[in-house]
Amino acid sequence: MPAREGRGAAVALRDVTISFRLGGTADFTAVEAASLTVEDGEFVAIVGPTGCGKSTLLNVAAGLLTPSAGSAEIFGAPLAGLNPDAGYLFQADALFPWKTAVENVAIGLEVVGVASAEARARAKEWLGRVGLAPFAGRYPHMLSGGQRKRVGLAQVLIRDPKILLMDEPFGPLDAQTRQIMGNLLLELWSADRKAVMFVTHDLEEAIALSDRVVIMSAGPAARIIGDWRVPLPRPRDIGEVKLDEAFHVLHRDIWAKLKDEVLKGYARTGGG
Ligand SMILES: Nc1ncnc2c1ncn2[C@@H]1O[C@H](COP(=O)(O)OP(=O)(O)OP(=O)(O)O)[C@@H](O)[C@H]1O
Ligand SMILES: [Mg+2]
Repeated sequence: MPAREGRGAAVALRDVTISFRLGGTADFTAVEAASLTVEDGEFVAIVGPTGCGKSTLLNVAAGLLTPSAGSAEIFGAPLAGLNPDAGYLFQADALFPWKTAVENVAIGLEVVGVASAEARARAKEWLGRVGLAPFAGRYPHMLSGGQRKRVGLAQVLIRDPKILLMDEPFGPLDAQTRQIMGNLLLELWSADRKAVMFVTHDLEEAIALSDRVVIMSAGPAARIIGDWRVPLPRPRDIGEVKLDEAFHVLHRDIWAKLKDEVLKGYARTGGG
């Protein structure tokens, strides 16, 4: 999909370095000179070893973290403060335990001033879209892990963000549920292609979902060390696409580069 006229890429991170002050001693540089562009409508997966800085990069795109060096631009404008165009699906479940599924989704609109009756009606529609209509009145502890992820997805998408930031959203789910969630995500995304930055450990998931796969090296001072275009046609079924010869060729190519970094990452962080 072409970029919105004259507005530039949805996300452009240029030579972004992120250092954390650890009190007293030298700063810790998590990410160094990372450059990454996500075009409007493009689905980009970011894969890298544990602790390399994937969540940190998403935090920069969300405006939650200011780079120590380099710049972040959103649709051509320098990012200052929170990114108003971004919807963020966090690595951990972020549902309110004391609110029902429909209330949790409605909150996505209430925080931007939509009246609660309207927010609730639209939340019900969204729960239908993610296949949870019968579960509207349940509290998070009464939902399965996959169902909670669906509520989280609806909570973010109801605000219709132009940019979707997803941090290992299906991480804790079993393989079959991940596949179902991946297909649901692709179905919702294809309706009005948003720019997506999708962080995952899972290279197969990255290739199956995205238009481009970006690889990061093991930290500290992690860098972006590879960027592949995924040549698989859409619409895709995640189960079927993994049987495609082009999928295997790409997987082999990327894994050849990623493998050493993953091993380094485990050695340096103790595996998470
Ligand atoms: N606020 C902080 N202060 C100090 N160090 C931090 C802070 N946030 C992250 N880090 C460090 O920065 C590095 C990158 O962290 P980040 O959470 O981005 O990794 P990640 O790639 O998302 O890892 P995972 O795959 O395990 O989620 C890690 O070494 C982490 O310990
Ligand atoms: Mg992370």
